[in-house]
Order: sequence, then C-alpha cells, then structure tokens
Amino acid sequence: MTTATLPRPIADIIPAARTNWPDLPPDATRSQRAARPRLADMEITHPDLTAAITQVRAWGAAMNAARRQQNSAADETAPLPTPSLILSGPNGTGKTALARVIQWSMVNAVLDDDGKPIDDMITPACRWYVAADLLARLGNERDGDGYNYSAAPGQIVGSAPFVIIDDVAAELSIPFVAYPAQEAERQIRYYLFLDWCVNNRVPVILTTNLAAAGDNSALAQHVGPRAWSRLMQMCPRGYIVSLWSVPDYRRRVGGR
Ligand SMILES: Nc1ncnc2c1ncn2[C@@H]1O[C@H](COP(=O)(O)OP(=O)(O)OP(=O)(O)O)[C@@H](O)[C@H]1O
Ligand SMILES: [Mg+2]
Repeated sequence: MTTATLPRPIADIIPAARTNWPDLPPDATRSQRAARPRLADMEITHPDLTAAITQVRAWGAAMNAARRQQNSAADETAPLPTPSLILSGPNGTGKTALARVIQWSMVNAVLDDDGKPIDDMITPACRWYVAADLLARLGNERDGDGYNYSAAPGQIVGSAPFVIIDDVAAELSIPFVAYPAQEAERQIRYYLFLDWCVNNRVPVILTTNLAAAGDNSALAQHVGPRAWSRLMQMCPRGYIVSLWSVPDYRRRVGGR
C-alpha cells in the first residue's frame, strides 16, 4: 500500500536563499560583476607580486588575441600561441588568488530576452581542478576485469578554453595504485593530460609550492621529463612566475 503525501511548500522546508534576505540592499544581486575577484583587489606586498600581476595581464592579452584570431574566419595567418602559465611559490603568496582572477576572466553567460547577461547565470568558462582530484579522475575508468586505465583527458576538459590546475604537488597518493608505482603513475598521468592540452591548444594555468626554475627543479622532477618537456613548450619564456620572495599573506592577515 502506498500513502499519498501532499507536497509541502518548499519555502517551509528550505531557508530562503541569499538573494531573499530582507536586509540585503535591493541592488545586491546586481553587483555580481564587481564581486568577482580582480587583479586590482590584490594588495601589493612585494615587487615580485607586481611582476606576477603584469605577467597575468600579459597572459590575458595573449589569450584574448589568440581567441579573437580563432573566431575570425578571415584571419588565415599562422595561429597565435595560447601560452600556459606556472605560478610557483610558498604558501599564502596569492597563487590561488591570482588563479581565481584568471578563472573569472572568461565567462559563459545566459542572456535574457533583451540580450543582457543574467547575473545569476554567469559561470567561468574554464575548468578548475585541484591537482589531487585531477590525477585521481585521470585513471578512474575501469574495465570489466578491474584493470584501470586513463580516461581520455578530452572527456574531462571538453570544450573549456583553458584549464587551471591548483596545488600541483599537493596530491594524495593515487587510488588503486601500488606504492612503488605511484611516482611513475603520477608522471604518466601528468604527461597524458599535458600532452592532450598542448596538442589541442588548451593552455594550462598551474599553481604549485614546488620550485619551477630549470630542468632539475622540483616541479620538473615531480611531473617527470615527458610532462616537463611539454610544459617547456607550453610556457614561453617569462610565463613561469616566481612568488618565492612574496610574504605569506595569511600571516599578514593574522597580524604576524
Ligand atoms: N596580495 C594579496 N592581496 C590580497 N589578498 C591576498 C593577497 N595574497 C593572498 N591573498 C589572500 O590570502 C589568502 C591566501 O592566498 P592564496 O590562497 O592565494 O595563497 P596560495 O599561494 O595559493 O597558498 P597555498 O600554496 O597555501 O595554496 C587568500 O584568502 C587570498 O585571497
Ligand atoms: Mg593555493
């Protein structure tokens, strides 16, 4: 026997959404654009941060130029490069904050009847991954016999114009991989992913706590020679940005 349940008004069950709070100013939902992270909001704590911001602007300009060219049917010149960017530095130096600005620099919008973007339906066009999740996802396809293999990066990235990988080297151990094989497996997954990105002209913004200067750097060893070689192609000179001298903003906020 089934019992019919009368639907209860949802407002009784779920508290009102943020936009329904009575004490919010009436135009609070209209200021979303201003609420997005912006480079101008970053406090300059060190000259190296100024240099990093300049480089992020240069990346944006290069990316825009490349996108404009890709969208132009008339332009038949050789494709402009779509550079990748590595932000390297210790904890709290603003790497993720910079990546968030980049994330919101290109958005998909739903338009209303008048062709104006609807504020609540604007989402970043890029894909954001925490390195740990990305590595795990890259191998989470399993066949009927229980062997796992790499899901095609294309299935994960889809048509995103660029990709952000946050916190490379803060990965957990990869699930279902024996301990001695962890390093090789990690390097192969980075290689597969970056190789797909370079071949499909999808730039990668990568943040890491590892030093990234030179072929013997900790980052180069972490991702392995195959992936590093691709990163060298993807990140032109100047696009590996060091924040190693920038002070920890979290300590500053804590008054230390
Ligand atoms: N220059 C800055 N101006 C204003 N806020 C900042 C600045 N740098 C960092 N912050 C803020 O400080 C906090 C820590 O910064 P963030 O998360 O970007 O550090 P991180 O370099 O990614 O560190 P981690 O390596 O630990 O992930 C964030 O809340 C961020 O918004
Ligand atoms: Mg971070």
